[in-house]
Amino acid sequence: MNGNLIVIHAAELATSQGDQARCGRAMNDLQIVPDGAICIEKGIISAVGKTDEILAAVDSQAFTVIDASGRAVLPGFVDSHTHFIFGGYRADEFAWRLQGIGYMEIMARGGGIVSTVEATRQADLETLVRDGRRRLDSMLSFGVTTVEGKSGYGLDCETELRQLEAMAQLEREHPLDIVSTFLGAHAVPRDYPGGGEAYLDFVMTQVLPAVAEGGLAEFCDIFCEDQVFSVDQSRRLLTLAGEMGFKLTLHADEIVPLGGAELAVELGAVSADHLLHASDAGIQGMAETGVVATLLPMTAFSLKEPYARARTMIDRGCAVALATDLNPGSCFSNSMPLMVALATLYMGMTPEEALTAITLNGAAAVDRADRVGSLEAGKQGDVVILEHPSHRFMPYHIGVNTVEKVIKRGNLVFDKTRGGRIDAA
Ligand code: NIG
Ligand code: FE
Repeated sequence: MNGNLIVIHAAELATSQGDQARCGRAMNDLQIVPDGAICIEKGIISAVGKTDEILAAVDSQAFTVIDASGRAVLPGFVDSHTHFIFGGYRADEFAWRLQGIGYMEIMARGGGIVSTVEATRQADLETLVRDGRRRLDSMLSFGVTTVEGKSGYGLDCETELRQLEAMAQLEREHPLDIVSTFLGAHAVPRDYPGGGEAYLDFVMTQVLPAVAEGGLAEFCDIFCEDQVFSVDQSRRLLTLAGEMGFKLTLHADEIVPLGGAELAVELGAVSADHLLHASDAGIQGMAETGVVATLLPMTAFSLKEPYARARTMIDRGCAVALATDLNPGSCFSNSMPLMVALATLYMGMTPEEALTAITLNGAAAVDRADRVGSLEAGKQGDVVILEHPSHRFMPYHIGVNTVEKVIKRGNLVFDKTRGGRIDAA
């Protein structure tokens, strides 16, 4: 496992290009190379082109060679919004929702996020790491090579830090790259003395500084939502977090229209996420300022809510990313193919836009588009090989995982034909 690898004879090598998000209709422009090849040296892409050109330029003896005849070769996927570290499950709550009980009502009954908080507080670091590892392995099998993960199921200093520590440990030991986000303002703990205002003060004065001191998160997020944290409260927390050096993102306009997208624009957030009810002004602002619109179609699907207006956003010039939102409540799924199917069938996105949304724009949503998200010289050698000859099989083969091989920094880490996950030698 030295990170020296070439992939040759791809039926197509398909990628967006650039080191920042692609906006609007440019999301549709892929570079597609028939009989494509890619050369990775010490984990970094050194050349991309036709197979004969690449083979003429390198001494293939020094490389692991993968023949991708009949297969599409794509950039590794970026799942830019998940909550993959948590304790316990909420299958009963899912059944309640099937009976028509709403997400906010479940929260009001003491279910929802707060019930996962109880289970997460009881889970020790080892348990969080063990379960997190299993979830990362599953993500890898779906072609995900970079994932964002959030705290937010502790709502106390100790457990918030433990969730972030679990991610830090997994980042060291697992091939996936993990981008950590502090989401201490995910909900107000049940019966918190002084309520939401007091809890927010606690987050700002106690927890956020501890996270910063431990270097445990790159981003700060907040659930900006009716009955959770208001726009003013979100502004307060995120302004402080920005001053402390955190990059900003927020759960915005998910359940009701509240002006979360506008706040993301005002604060220069990297990304605003969910956006089911984003206003025209919010969409316009995101398009003008380049805040990535991260859409989570499986959450809308799971909550039986209308989808975010992806087509409008793209037509008005936004950079749209797609992410799974994997979490034990509103969306217990990390299925990239289901997500892509929903985005194309119900949100008006083309297969090409969807690919950009799960690669380059996903990378931009976690501020890593300079490193990952496309197959170009200088970027990390993170590559997905499908069982089929075109990227268009991703939405077309509905809900079926068409990923055959995954390469991380030039090393083959997953191969369905060899039984799945391959450990570093
Ligand atoms: O992104 N909206 C808030 N947070 C999660 C839900 C978390 C949960 O239900 O446990 C979301 O949908
Ligand atoms: Fe979320």
